[in-house]
Amino acid sequence: MGISTVPGQMTSEEIVALSREHTFFSWSAQGAIDPIAIDRAEGVYLYTPEGKRILDFNSQLMSVNIGHGDRRVIDAITAQATKLQYVQPAFASEPRARLGAKLAEILPGDLNKVFLTLGGAEAVENAIKLARAYTGRHKILARYRSYHGATLGAMTLDGGPTSQASSVLSATRTRIAGARRSRDRPPRASRVSRMSSATRAPTRSRRSSSRRSSGRTAS
Ligand SMILES: Cc1ncc(COP(=O)(O)O)c(C=O)c1O
Repeated sequence: MGISTVPGQMTSEEIVALSREHTFFSWSAQGAIDPIAIDRAEGVYLYTPEGKRILDFNSQLMSVNIGHGDRRVIDAITAQATKLQYVQPAFASEPRARLGAKLAEILPGDLNKVFLTLGGAEAVENAIKLARAYTGRHKILARYRSYHGATLGAMTLDGGPTSQASSVLSATRTRIAGARRSRDRPPRASRVSRMSSATRAPTRSRRSSSRRSSGRTAS
């Protein structure tokens, strides 16, 4: 694909095609995704490269609550990026000092110290490590079929076989197992013919309906 060397000149189609070719999209069957290309955003609106306006009902992942393109945020980011963009975690910096103090000020009770992370899953993983180190215990309680992030440790918390994480994993496992079966075993027809319907393992839907009828609930 001939890509323009001037930033901001790609069409939606080009952005989506190139993104799909070279980047993975999380929680998605890669062949089935159809993302919307976004070029810019202002207030509650996102805009495609062709100028189509989209209302951002959810502040993305509840993470742009102040609205897109807020001048105060742009100025603060610009000033900080001009002065110092990055130091590794062993260094202290004024933004780190100020953010820690601000969070201590608004945290409930006598909580006055935070561990800064780059996202939710990393926060959950570090909370697990802190809780284990502090209590000396191993088990973590979490809500059944809850969501805690896409990293391996966070995914172990979410429990249910139909939660997003587990279903993606089990779908992958099923595909891998299916591929191994078809490679290692005799053709399916000869096996199925020896198995009466009464002795076959229950299908996924029969299993879940029997679970429902046994009164087990999802949360
Ligand atoms: C409750 C909860 N925990 C953890 C996460 C993971 O956060 P992140 O995607 O920043 O890793 C999310 C993300 O949606 C979440 O809603």
